[in-house]
Amino acid sequence: MEVVILPGSRQIASLVADTIEALLREKPDAVLGLATGSSPLPVYDELALRHERGLDFSRAHGFLLDEYVGLESGHPESYREVIRREFAVRVNIAPENIHGPDGAAADLPAACRAYEDAIQDRGGVDLQLLGIGTDGHIGFNEPGSSLASRTRIKTLIEQTRRDNARFFGSLAEVPHHVVTQGLGTILDSRHAVLVATGAQKAQAVHDLVEGPVAAICPASVLQLHPHASILVDEAAASSLKLADYYRHSYEHKPAWQAL
Ligand code: GLP
Repeated sequence: MEVVILPGSRQIASLVADTIEALLREKPDAVLGLATGSSPLPVYDELALRHERGLDFSRAHGFLLDEYVGLESGHPESYREVIRREFAVRVNIAPENIHGPDGAAADLPAACRAYEDAIQDRGGVDLQLLGIGTDGHIGFNEPGSSLASRTRIKTLIEQTRRDNARFFGSLAEVPHHVVTQGLGTILDSRHAVLVATGAQKAQAVHDLVEGPVAAICPASVLQLHPHASILVDEAAASSLKLADYYRHSYEHKPAWQAL
């Protein structure tokens, strides 16, 4: 696991975009794992800019991490719609190449299994972008999630509903249920890139990086990932014991070594 502490979200977005750009130049049909929440938004802004300068997404695929259950198709806060608006329409990725778990399916367990199959059929996720919830969730894998879990239905913790209420008219409108890639699904990605900014994420970032691997902090499963990059700003890094070591390592990183 590599921890990179940067001054702010612009620098984080630029580094993530560099990594995605290098991936797409080497593998134009790369599979990108797409995250929602506010943390990845600067990354999508930067990718849109790079597309204007020629970065080609025409053969790329995108797989969403998660989705609310019970929002009607096209609801502005459904994650499929958020990704369409914030990312897909701003680059030249084919609409049919964007995939998401179906939170409106009549048979949710079957839809979750089909989603796992679709990821496999595409050859797996090359780069999985992630944010982190204040309770340490990734995707919508709330505390207590099996570290080996696959795509399935989950019930949101009230704190997450409250955190996400800002996107809805009121707390009552935030669904209680979601479908999310599991922690085992996320572990299968070839490169996991987690971004976090702000003091409200400091405890979760500490638990993820320096706490034990434990279901109480689902993101800590990334300690088992063979290639995980954790990109944080100073505020999100403020509870890290080894912050100076992470800074030193990044400053002295060999020039040939990418994220
Ligand atoms: C939601 C998403 C997560 C995201 C989290 C944090 O719960 N399902 O994927 O990481 O929000 O969001 P934010 O980046 O807005 O703090």
